[in-house]
Amino acid sequence: MAAKAMDSMDTTAIPHPRWRVPLLGDVVGAGRRTPVQDTMAQARNLGPIFTRRFLRREIVFVAGAGLAAELADESRFSKHLALGVEALRDIGGDGLFTAYNEEPNWKAAHDVLLPAFTQSAMRGYHSTMVDVTARLVEKWDRGEVVDVSADMTKLTLETIGQVGFGYSFESFERSSTHPFVRAMVGSLAYAQGTTTTLPLVRKLFGRAAREQYERDLAYLAEVVDEVIRSRRGTHGTDLLGLMLSSGELDDVNIRNQVITFLVAGHETTSGALSFALHYLSRHPEVVERARAEIDAVWGSAEVPEFEQVAKLRYVRRVLDEALRLWPTAPGYGRQAREDTVLGGKYPMRTGQWALVLLPSVHRDPEVWPTPEAFDPDRFAPAEVRARPGHVYKPFGTGERACIGRQFALHEATLALGTVLRRYDLVGSPDYRLKVAETLTLKPEGFMLTPRRR
Ligand code: HEM
Repeated sequence: MAAKAMDSMDTTAIPHPRWRVPLLGDVVGAGRRTPVQDTMAQARNLGPIFTRRFLRREIVFVAGAGLAAELADESRFSKHLALGVEALRDIGGDGLFTAYNEEPNWKAAHDVLLPAFTQSAMRGYHSTMVDVTARLVEKWDRGEVVDVSADMTKLTLETIGQVGFGYSFESFERSSTHPFVRAMVGSLAYAQGTTTTLPLVRKLFGRAAREQYERDLAYLAEVVDEVIRSRRGTHGTDLLGLMLSSGELDDVNIRNQVITFLVAGHETTSGALSFALHYLSRHPEVVERARAEIDAVWGSAEVPEFEQVAKLRYVRRVLDEALRLWPTAPGYGRQAREDTVLGGKYPMRTGQWALVLLPSVHRDPEVWPTPEAFDPDRFAPAEVRARPGHVYKPFGTGERACIGRQFALHEATLALGTVLRRYDLVGSPDYRLKVAETLTLKPEGFMLTPRRR
């Protein structure tokens, strides 16, 4: 079937890395722990489009803004479940993120859930988001050194759990990881690993890991089914309530959606906040402007109202810029709806696909002057208007773009506003940004000491 076609485009005219090894492919220098950053390095040498081959699997990468904008044309291209996303089918099934375009449950669930993600729906979630942020503040008030990515993960997982399903993982209360979180992280790591290890190696050496993976998946399903059972009849207006009362989705699909939201809804936002905090800890002039805005908009209010979060335009630009440099979901696949030619010279047959490498697209010097510099003013309205369309895509593109965008932005702006107003963020001057790659990107080993102002 077209959506599943794995054969890539006619690659004869497309450059590839220099040291291509017969049979094995482009394995020279391929690091297993940082495939995104390795591919970004290739892009610097090979240009806006190139291929990499691993054994018989050849992938076309698009790293230039012009070609990425062309792939955003919904009349010619649609989502392709590329590598890392397809590997999550065991976990997300036909949930929104991992559904194939033609699966009827995608449209059914999209229609049921869309109203739960509008700006006005966020108004209803605001007070829960404020409560969860207050838990972070309680922890940071102790003045201890904090592992930023770990704390942001607590914040975002707790938020989606409580706002989406009325469920608390007790992230800020527990001293050890919640078993659900352990099973989720474990199964994601296993699924991700299947894209970088050879099937034969897994078969020979991976039995125990496979069995653990199956236990993790069964446990996730058991916990979520229990939450769903406990909510039957009571419904409510959160995501789960909407799904239960719609009568449109079967039980297995609702379970898939809950797991999907927990996975898709926390790591990406957590990484975005962590990168933003990293850049803030390095740019006192940005902190100063952000604080002036927060003071002006929030005044002396103990906690902000919903509208006061939406009005933090400069803080929002800080997030936009952090997501430009490190889009925490670093790529997505696009497949041809019909036979077509990309960039006027690369023929693609129906179903053939390419992977958009976002951190490189977001650094294309044709569009972004001094692309490596952190500068939130790039997102001032006049700057945005002056840029071509479809060149900034941290939330993906088209009808399969991120449904949780407003959710993530409200949650993250609220959190950044809260901590910037309350603390001086003292980082270690020796820290050099190291980007860890799992399913998403996040700063590794980034510690801060929050000091009450
Ligand atoms: C900064 C935070 C986030 C980023 C960078 C992000 C990024 C993305 C991207 C790039 C896609 C498209 C993937 C593709 O084309 O294969 C996507 C889809 C999706 N995201 Fe997000 N996301 C974020 C937050 C969230 C949140 C908070 C939720 C839920 C509460 C969420 C739920 C989803 C879902 C369900 C999809 C699939 C939509 C569909 O195909 O219908 N995301 N996200």
